[in-house]
Amino acid sequence: MKKIRQCFGIVLWLIIVSLGCNPVQSVDRNNFKTCEQSSFCRRSRRVKPGQSPYQLHLNTLSVGSSSISAELVNYNNLAKFKFELSAIKEETFRMKISELSPIRPRYEVESALVSEPELDTLKIIEQTADHVTVQAGANEAKVFAAPFRVDLYSHGQLVISSNARGLLKFEHYRKKPEPKAEEGAGAAEEAEAAGEEDIEADPGAWEENFKSHHDTKPYGPAAVALDFSFVGAHHAYGIPEHADSFALKSTKNTDPYRLYNLDVFEYELWNPMALYGSVPFLIAHGPARTVGVLWLNAAETWVDILSSGDQTVVSSIVNFVSGSDPTPQVDAHFISETGIIDVFFNLGPRPLDVFRQYTKLTGTAPLPQYFAIAYHQSRWNYNDQDDVRMVESKFDEHDLPLDVMWLDIEHTDNKKYFTWDHLRFSQPTEMTQNLTAHGRKLVVIVDPHIKRDGSYFLHNDAESNGYYVKNKEGRDFEGWCWPGSSSYLDFLNPAVQDYYAQRYSLDNFKGSTEDTYIWNDMNEPSVFSGPEVTMHKDCVHHGGWEHREIHNIYALLNTKVTFNGLFRRSEGKLRPFILTRGHFAGSQRYAAVWTGDNAADWAHLRITVPMCLSLSVSGISFCGADVGGFFRSPDEELITRWYQAAAFQPFFRSHAHIDTKRREPWLFGEETLGVIREALRKRYSLLPLWYTLFREHELTGAPVMQPLWAQFPTETDTFAIDDEYLLGDRLLVHPVTEAEASSVTVYFPGPGQIWYDMDSYEAIHVSSKHSGGRTEQIPVNIRKVPVFQRGGTIVPKKERIRRAASLSLDDPFTLLVALDVNGTASGTVYIDDGRSYEYKQGKYLYLDLKFEGKTLTSRFIDKNSKFPTKAWLERVVIIGWPSAVSKARIESKGMGTNVLEASYNSAAHLLVVRKPAVSMAEEWTLSLL
Ligand code: GLC
Repeated sequence: MKKIRQCFGIVLWLIIVSLGCNPVQSVDRNNFKTCEQSSFCRRSRRVKPGQSPYQLHLNTLSVGSSSISAELVNYNNLAKFKFELSAIKEETFRMKISELSPIRPRYEVESALVSEPELDTLKIIEQTADHVTVQAGANEAKVFAAPFRVDLYSHGQLVISSNARGLLKFEHYRKKPEPKAEEGAGAAEEAEAAGEEDIEADPGAWEENFKSHHDTKPYGPAAVALDFSFVGAHHAYGIPEHADSFALKSTKNTDPYRLYNLDVFEYELWNPMALYGSVPFLIAHGPARTVGVLWLNAAETWVDILSSGDQTVVSSIVNFVSGSDPTPQVDAHFISETGIIDVFFNLGPRPLDVFRQYTKLTGTAPLPQYFAIAYHQSRWNYNDQDDVRMVESKFDEHDLPLDVMWLDIEHTDNKKYFTWDHLRFSQPTEMTQNLTAHGRKLVVIVDPHIKRDGSYFLHNDAESNGYYVKNKEGRDFEGWCWPGSSSYLDFLNPAVQDYYAQRYSLDNFKGSTEDTYIWNDMNEPSVFSGPEVTMHKDCVHHGGWEHREIHNIYALLNTKVTFNGLFRRSEGKLRPFILTRGHFAGSQRYAAVWTGDNAADWAHLRITVPMCLSLSVSGISFCGADVGGFFRSPDEELITRWYQAAAFQPFFRSHAHIDTKRREPWLFGEETLGVIREALRKRYSLLPLWYTLFREHELTGAPVMQPLWAQFPTETDTFAIDDEYLLGDRLLVHPVTEAEASSVTVYFPGPGQIWYDMDSYEAIHVSSKHSGGRTEQIPVNIRKVPVFQRGGTIVPKKERIRRAASLSLDDPFTLLVALDVNGTASGTVYIDDGRSYEYKQGKYLYLDLKFEGKTLTSRFIDKNSKFPTKAWLERVVIIGWPSAVSKARIESKGMGTNVLEASYNSAAHLLVVRKPAVSMAEEWTLSLL
């Protein structure tokens, strides 16, 4: 048997290698399940809207200071459940439904949440025979007993209804039925009477085959499903990761959106198929309100969406409740293979409230080091240490800023992570020091599959200590990945967590330095020989949990442990940087995410915006896509446009497949090189803004990259926009993503707003007479990146571009003060050492800048914080200034008073005040004279 397996492995491996080091050549939909091919999805999706068989026994109601609970019964089979509803701080309710006395514990996800959520007080305000109403702050939950339904009200308005369509389904664990001697009408009738006909009739309920793979399902059917109706919502967003539009589409005539972390080779665009990550968080948005739902379940999940257009009069909840005209509504139906129903409802009311409420639960991304938001250069692979040195020096030679060089799997000794190829990377420390001498860093890849090789310490340790995930027979699970035969560390095991974190210490990871950071890839986990290119669901983890129960958090745990390893490596001094491919809710606390193996194709460039927006509104702000496209080779125009677009996306890294042509910027023509240089310089000049936005994300949960409706929530024209976005509330970005474009159509939101072109300072006024925005054709040539500053904001910049961002921390600032219709503007700047955790001890500056009348002031937001920056104010540019001024005065405690020269460009309405030369570490006032 073992021989046969080995043979299979070797043959498969040869095929993989001959296909160019990847398992298949183009997306093969047959490799991935449809809902129909997945028994739990099929069963749950067949439940028809109507009267729910679930009833709450209000006579069992128990009331605590923050929660209520009661017994819930499925009257089709009399299975009993515990229903619990609690009030969580920050306008949030949590609803849990689980089996009352399961014959086996059901898995509950912990690691996605920052900590146990803080409870709020809740009180009963009404109780009748048929419902109970509880109140927490301005929110109420009305819980109906029969049929079971939960309606959530915010400020008196019905906003979410659960089980309004009656799709609740909770398959309790049961004993496997004995095979019946006589299958006949009797058995079927019995099952039907018990309301179990779907399970009885489903050949996949107790075991299931997919292609050549068999899933044993030792615990049988265990699906959980529930519907939510969002009253007043025009669209739903979130539930990444999918290569699809930002506003979720109706799945009435397609498969549901699938959440199952998978390594999909050459993924197709604009469809709901699963991808590398799963964040079961959905936002429903309408002009009056925004709400969020976190479906906290780590098993394979499918989500059906019905939009307003799909509603029948009967299914409209408002109509149902009040008899009034149908109100826009979005319905979602979540279906998971196992686990419990554990749902958080963030009640908004505004988008920024929902982002704050959601990240209160799952965390925000910690402030990255300064280098991490600059430019990263990667490819699979840089050949050797000389190649790394050469590429880095070419960046200098061509005056291209660069902060990080990356090494993919070929840097290792035969794909054994934490080792180096002895010949090609014989001097890793020296190689890294050469980078750090120039202010740069190194990132190396560390995948979670471990080569089964008796000479590999990690394999030997893992094997002898029982650190691997087990197969259903209880032996170490073996699958195929880059190294050939591999096993997979079981990150659920606390001993593995500790052991793995220790691998990153400088003593253990020889050749790494404090400036070596980590890329965790293939952590869905990718198993080339497994079902759907991943691990068998009946594999077993620490604690006896099946892989099916935790699949979607494997990557989260992988990065959590890596984060701890890097944190410990510097004794908690330096902020870790990790990039991950697999992800789940909460991954933002540990790693940046990129969108995996895209292609050098215009459509792939276009989809970077909706993909990153979906991640951003789901808590994962630090998002990017491989610049240039991973597969295939971009032509000059595409690579140019990709650099220009990515320069305005949070994570900015060029990366390419091993079989593609080299594509460092100087390998293209002079013009392309020049335009890429400009794009890089634009990114570097705006790093002070990026850094401030990342800090503000950490504080408030507001995504760095935002949909327009985050700032203009009532403006319905913004709801389906997929090709532009905001950076914070300050910049509007509309990348050019079409070949040979001579113009782009830009939507400018906000009645009464002014938007200033960042290149020409030209003002675009949106009329205040209409409720919506304004659409304009903006001409573009190859150099043009359409970016606009919002009037009323102040953007910090640095205009001296160094070879690496980390060298620019002391450089002076320029402030772009863009005036609104009232001639005012405001903004913030955040400054610290760019690398350590000292900011947590108050070593930072957070400045509040305000321009009003003729005066610009800088004041400390946190009076007790201090940071001795050498950076000073070099220039103030006032955009939209109406008339000539030739002098200004700067005053500060440290510097006293100075009179400055100002120059006015009347055509551009631009006033420039040069060299105020005041320290950024002081409060100051600048007045136009
Ligand atoms: C995966 C990654 C890709 C990487 C390759 C080799 O395909 O998504 O970025 O280059 O593995 O490690």
